[in-house]
Parts: sequence; structure tokens; C-alpha cells
Amino acid sequence: MNSPLPYLDPALPVSERVADLIGRMTLPEKVGQMLQLSGMDGVDHLVRELHVGSILHTSPERIDEANALVSQTRLGIPLLVAEDCIHGHSFWKGATIYPTQLGMAATWDPELVERVARATAVEVAATGIHWTFSPVLCITRDLRWGRVSETFGEDPFLIGELASAMVRGYQGEGLTDPTAILATAKHFAGYSETQGGRDASEADLSRRKLRSWFLPPFERVAREGCRSFMLGYQSIDGVPITVNDWLLNDVLRGEWGYTGTLVTDWDNVGRMVWEQLVCADYTEAAAKAVRAGNDVVMTTPQFFEGALQAVAEGTLDEAEIDAAVRRVLTLKFELGLFENPRHPDPERQAAVVGSAAHAELNLEVARRSLVLLRNDGTLPLDGGYTAGADGRAVAGDGAAPRTVALIGPSIDDPHTQLGDWAGASGQTDWLLPDGHPREMTETVLDGFRAVAPEGWTVTHAKGAEILTVGPDPEGEFFPDGQPRPDVVIPAEPDEALIAEAVAAAEAADHVVAVVGDRIELVGESRSTATLELVGAQVALLDALAATGKPLVVVLLSSKPLVLPPSALNAAAVVYAFNPGMRGGRALAELLLGLIEPTGRLPLSFARHAGQQPTYYNQVRGQHGTRYADLTQSPAFAFGEGLSYTTVEYRDLEVLTPVLEADDTVRARVTLANTGERPALETVQIYVSDTVTSVTWAAKELKGYRQVRLAPGQTTTVALELAAADCTLVDAAGNRVVEPGAFELLVGPSSRDEALLRAGFAIKG
Ligand code: NOJ
Repeated sequence: MNSPLPYLDPALPVSERVADLIGRMTLPEKVGQMLQLSGMDGVDHLVRELHVGSILHTSPERIDEANALVSQTRLGIPLLVAEDCIHGHSFWKGATIYPTQLGMAATWDPELVERVARATAVEVAATGIHWTFSPVLCITRDLRWGRVSETFGEDPFLIGELASAMVRGYQGEGLTDPTAILATAKHFAGYSETQGGRDASEADLSRRKLRSWFLPPFERVAREGCRSFMLGYQSIDGVPITVNDWLLNDVLRGEWGYTGTLVTDWDNVGRMVWEQLVCADYTEAAAKAVRAGNDVVMTTPQFFEGALQAVAEGTLDEAEIDAAVRRVLTLKFELGLFENPRHPDPERQAAVVGSAAHAELNLEVARRSLVLLRNDGTLPLDGGYTAGADGRAVAGDGAAPRTVALIGPSIDDPHTQLGDWAGASGQTDWLLPDGHPREMTETVLDGFRAVAPEGWTVTHAKGAEILTVGPDPEGEFFPDGQPRPDVVIPAEPDEALIAEAVAAAEAADHVVAVVGDRIELVGESRSTATLELVGAQVALLDALAATGKPLVVVLLSSKPLVLPPSALNAAAVVYAFNPGMRGGRALAELLLGLIEPTGRLPLSFARHAGQQPTYYNQVRGQHGTRYADLTQSPAFAFGEGLSYTTVEYRDLEVLTPVLEADDTVRARVTLANTGERPALETVQIYVSDTVTSVTWAAKELKGYRQVRLAPGQTTTVALELAAADCTLVDAAGNRVVEPGAFELLVGPSSRDEALLRAGFAIKG
């Protein structure tokens, strides 16, 4: 019997298998292993001509085709198949789509987020995809940015908690776990520090600023074993991230000891040639990208010729390519792909994709993601209902059946519920134009029909259009040949639609307006100049408010919007950040009081776009505290969110007033549920360093606890925090604890007036 070639022998150590395989590869085969190309235009030439090592954006049929082609190649090196499965298996028909990352962040619950990522990995792995480009660890800074919905909000600590949970969920028991998929920490780093919210513009960041806020979540997941990092599009201080030696090599691979894979973002290498104009041609760009330590080059087919040419010209050494290929092959061996390439498994798909258990989890996370921002007592409707065995609200004996009017352009819009990077959002083409099967998504209208008490009448009226779209006056295509998205044309108020909505409101017992944004206002290249409700929506809300009926406003929106007075003064306001397939049902349940509102804002809301940025942890020091014409205080602050009950905080006490730097700060606070409904209270712990050697944030979130409180219950909550976490980044860029006085701030949100304070000191 012939013994297998060494690289095919699973009994040999991975390093030997890699060395053997590299020894058999031609230079073009090696360069191909560094390439990750889109399968949307076909896979044949990718495999046969470019020897591609990885594919993304590939339809289910084409994944099969690509795998078959690879099996016919000389060396049979398995493909790494990647996709943006960022809140569920986004582009797989019939998969479970959860709230966006921002929606999940509003739960503040890492355990729940980990379960979502695990369930997603189980679905994704069954479909022959090995790698998801998730989670996003960017910090929301400017709300005009189009990608706010992809983030976990504005706070580095909360981002670190949730991102690390998500990575654990995706990567399961480790790479050999057949239900594990590779997680990607993206976009490394500082991508969200845009200028004016403009997507991927140069990020004005010092190394100290990076170390202060932007790097900590990435450092955390790097140290915890996240297996891939994606590099941002932008440049910092003139240097594209793709070739930022300090960030990639000194910090990531050096200081943090990261050994995982580096993948560029979409055509980052090409952008250095045609967009940022820092390389004369693809030969130069390819050489620089390899030398900087990139392993996988996403969607720059010209990298193939460029790298070959650079080696021929002597500006790139083949050994430098070998180093990257060694890392790619090591990953493939560690995943066990040579033994089990984890091809799509139809039987398993039937069992897990869109399963009932995942639908249940989807509803759970949707419920937890909703944030009640205002309530004069109108919610829950009629004082609240309880759910019967079938999940439908049960009205008490003799209760008169009600009419609820659902009004607005978002009452029955499945796509807005799913949000960006899902179904028909446009990044892939095989689910266009309809997206996921309509029956899988429960809109607000579906939700009310399903859970309103028997005998209720649910009426509805659109009331307003949001927008139409038209061609970009700057032309059909970007320089790289990508189509330019259409531009948004806001809709004008339509008196007939408004009149119909007002009539429906006047005829109803309860009026629920559901307004927000749409996919055309969200995503890459879709930053917004304004934050207001687009189109005829403000006119609609004004008209509904003028009826004098208590108005419940539900916002279905990818990101915080600036709310008009008719919403800010409404009887109740509920925010839903693209709550996923079951979000409409969760909203109906919330309004009817079948569940409690428990979400908390993972980012602050502006009163006006001109207040940007509004994040809570701003650095101390400015002349005054307001604009001449407007307060600087946000409309709603990081951490805020109401319950259907009231919770009082009192008696904050630090039990360890003086500590050594390696001690634990121990404190306690008393919470009392002073209302008649249960609460899930998110007790937030902030720290303020009283005097610092450098300017620093007035306060920073350092921890939180979620505490359940029955009606009337009083409880003492123990709080702990490592003194070693009370750090700042000093003028030299080192993260240190500066001995001296600190304040512990504990309460239900980041607002100063909501926080109890107690001092402690850390000794030198
Ligand atoms: C570009 C986006 O910036 C990134 O987040 C995404 O993962 C890749 N394209 C692949 O679709």
C-alpha cells in the first residue's frame, strides 16, 4: 500500500504537513492561497486560473461547484469559505436572522449573545461555510456613520464583553469542533473614527487615542483566541491600515501575541492604488501588503499578477509569501479541512437551519433588545395583559374588546426589521429581490394579529412614505467597477395618506405609530448627513399628536435618530434597533405587557445632528458645558432604558475605601422595586479618576450586573471591580493605574443625575 503524501498524513504534526505542502507548491499556487475572491461572478476561473485559497459571497450552488473544482486540482488544497454571517446566517435562505449587533447590544447580556453566536455557527457550519466576518468591534462615535447598526455601541468595555461572548459562541469548542466557525474581529482598528461620519474616511487618531478607546476590545479578543482579524479600509496618520506595521506587527502580533489570520477588507490592497493613491501600481501594493504581514487578501484579483511581478522584479522575496501561506495552510490543517473539508451537509441543514429552537432564541433576544425610552403610564396598554398557553394575550372576563390602530410606514416592513447584511440588503445577489421567506418574519402588524386578545380589531394605515431612490448623479460605477448605490430622495407628505391615518387613529382605542429608517439609509457608503426621520414621517407624527389621543411611538431604526417633539412628547416611545425576524412579535408582546421592557441603550442619542459626537465618555475640559443655542446633553444617554416598574437606588457604600493596586474594590448598593411589575435592572458601575496626569474621560463603564427584582422587592447588590482596571493611558501611551482618589458611580444609566457616588483611594 502506498503511504500518503506527508501533507495528507493526519498523523504528522501540522508544521511538517505545512512544510511538505509548501515544498510542492508553485509560486502561483502560493499566491493563490493568499487570495479570497467573490464567487458572485462565477468560481471556475478563481479556482483554475487564480488557484484561490478562499472564497466569499458565493451562492450555495457555487460553493458546491467550487468544492468540486478544487477536488480536481493538483494538490487538492481545501477552500476556506467565508461569509458575512453577522446577525445570523444572513444570506442563507431560510436561516434565522437575529437583531443586528446594535440590537443585541441593547440586551447588555453576554450569555445571550454567546448563545446567538453559537446557534448561528451551528447553522453556518452546516452550509459549508467556515468563516464569518463577525463581530464588529468598532466604537460608534458619530451617529451619521452608515455602519452604526453593525457595532455594539459606543463603550469599549461593553463592546469587549459582548464581542468576546460572540467569539466564544462562533468558535465553540475550538477549531476541531465541526460546528465551530472562525470569528473575525473587525475592522482593526479605528475605522469608526470617521470624519463627519463619512464611511472609511481618514481616521484622525493618535496612538494614545487608539490605546485609550479603540484597541482595548480588540486586545481582549486577541488574547482570548479570536482566530482572525480584518483590517479596516481607512488610513491613520497617512498610513493605510493594510500596511500599518506598528499596528499589525508591533501591537497585534507583538505585544498581544496574536497568532491568528489577518484578512484585508474588500480590495484594501487595490485601494492603495486607485483610491488612496499611495502605491503606483499593483506590484508595489502587493509587495507592501505581503511585507506588512497580511495573510488573506480580500477581493483584489490584481494581487495575483502583482505579487508574481514583485517576486520577478526582486521587490518581494518568495520567502515572504511563504510566511503568509504557511499561516493560511496552518489554519486549514488546524480546522482539519484536509480530512474533513466540511462541505455543505443538506441533511444537517434540514435539521438546524431556521430550526424551531433557533426561532425561540430569536424571539428571546428580540424581546430583550427593545428599549422603552418614555412612558407616561400608557404602556403597557390597558395596564397589561398576561399571555395564554398559545402566547396570545388574554383579556379578563367582561373586558371590552379594543381597536388598536397601527400606523406608519414600518408597521409591515420585513426588511427594516432584519436590517443590514441580511437577505435582500444588497451585498450578495442570490436572495434578491425578496430576501428571506416572508413568512419567517413577523412584522409589527403580524405580531399584533398573533398576540392581541381574541376579539380585538387591528386596523392599519401607512400614513407616510419614507423615500424613493434614484441614480447617483455622480455616475453609475465607482472607479473599481462596483456599482454606486442609488441616492435617497425623501418622500413628501401626502395629505390623503395622513388623513387616512388620522381617521384610523381617531377611530381606535390605542394608537401605535411605527416609524424609522430603511435599508437605503443604512450601511457602507450610506452614511447620513442628517439624523431626522426621513420623508413624510414627521408630518405624520405631528398629525397623530394633534389628534390628542395618547400616542405610542415605536422606532424601527438601524441607529439613533433625532426625534421630533411629537415623538419626544408622545405618551410612550419604544426603540427597536432592527430587531430581527421576530421583532414585530416581541414589540406587540411588549406593548401589551406580556413581557417587561429590559433593554438599555448601548449608545447615546442626539437632540440634533450638530451635537455629534454625543458619546458619554468624553474627555474632560472645554469652555462651558453647552452650545450657545442648545444643550450638549443627549436626548437619551448611554445606559438608559425604562421598566414598567420603578427601581430606586440607595445607600451606595464602598467597603474597601483604601486599596493596593492589586486589590478588589468592593461595594454594595440597595435596590428597591417600588412598582407593581418585575424588573430586570442593569446596575451600571462607572469609575471616575479624580485628578489625572493627562486629560481623561469624566467617567467610564467598568462593569455592570443584571438583577431581577420582583414587585416590591428590596435587595442589596454586591459590586466588585479590580483596582487594576481603574486605568488611564498616560502621555507616553502606557495604560497605568495612577494612585490617588477615585469615585465609584453606580446607577441605572450614565447620566450624572442618575448615579450615586462614593469615593475610594488606590495607594501608590
Ligand atoms: C466590506 C465590509 O467593510 C466588511 O465588513 C465585510 O466583511 C466585507 N466587505 C466582506 O463582505
